[in-house]
Amino acid sequence: MGDDEVETTRILIVDDEERTLEAFSMMLACRGYYVRIAPRYDEALSLVAEDRFDIAFVDQFLGHTRGLDLIQRMADIAPELYYVIITANGSTDLAVDALKKGASDFIVKPFSIGDLLRSIDYVNRKRELDSQKKELLSMLKLKVNEKTEELKGVYFSVLSSLAQAMEKKDMGTYGHCRRVSYCARLIAAALDLNEKDRLDLKAAAMLHDIGKIGITDFILGKKGPLNEEEKKVIMNHPVKGVEILRPIKHFESILPAILHHHENYDGSGYPNGLSGEDIPLFARIISVADTYDAILSVRPYRSAATHDDAIMELMRCAGRQFDPSVVNAFAKANAKYSQIFGAPLNVSAIHQMA
Ligand SMILES: [Fe+2]
Repeated sequence: MGDDEVETTRILIVDDEERTLEAFSMMLACRGYYVRIAPRYDEALSLVAEDRFDIAFVDQFLGHTRGLDLIQRMADIAPELYYVIITANGSTDLAVDALKKGASDFIVKPFSIGDLLRSIDYVNRKRELDSQKKELLSMLKLKVNEKTEELKGVYFSVLSSLAQAMEKKDMGTYGHCRRVSYCARLIAAALDLNEKDRLDLKAAAMLHDIGKIGITDFILGKKGPLNEEEKKVIMNHPVKGVEILRPIKHFESILPAILHHHENYDGSGYPNGLSGEDIPLFARIISVADTYDAILSVRPYRSAATHDDAIMELMRCAGRQFDPSVVNAFAKANAKYSQIFGAPLNVSAIHQMA
């Protein structure tokens, strides 16, 4: 498209009074406008499909058809086109209706070349304003996207600060959370979860025990068996975790996973005794990943179990503590992992990859 074409307003006039049309068309062409005329409904539609126009002047009465219907048909073909409806003298209601249905202006018959020129100027100013508005909106959209990216950055910094706070509270927990997060992601991939869910699950798995921050070092580090009161405190950590994360809006979608990661599939878990699929999927996944890592990890009172031991234990408890479909997905993911790396998962390998 040449520069001249950009500056010239391209006009279509649709009217069944051909003689008048031709006269106006010539007068406009002499003033530098690009003008085409269509005396009938179908011709107007074909012209809009094959050529590009800025403004269409459309007579409301085109034989048996109506200009407003034509405008709607043309808008489907050329969404950028602006319309001026040509009405008969005294049809104020029709003019109002036309403006409501998307026409930018109306002119009343009989009209002069001056009326046409005024309307073209008016619609051109409107087009200009609309395009400035569009530009502003797209700039605004860009800014919003930039800010959203910035917020995402803040979100991940908060996440990592919280995880580090947990590490200080209980040495080793941070590593555990990272490993649980890695295993949860393996399960998410096996279950074919979408990208957003995988990111949410990663965050939830990372922060699932954040509520332990609120538990005293005495209870958390106690070597001997816990009394009933201490057990209650420990079992309250999912609720505490939700209390800690609730003020941060970005964590809203992962709160159910934090709250229910100690629910059991048969309903015997806590804090709400939920069962089956009433337990949020992320919580069911974290529960499997959490237990797997706990079995694999060395504890002061026992040596670390093997990967096969851990998988067997998960299978044994499937249907009671764990969702069988999640255990199966994890087993599937592990088989794939072994195939790729030539050995089953183990704590140090997970730790390196997490
Ligand atoms: Fe926990």
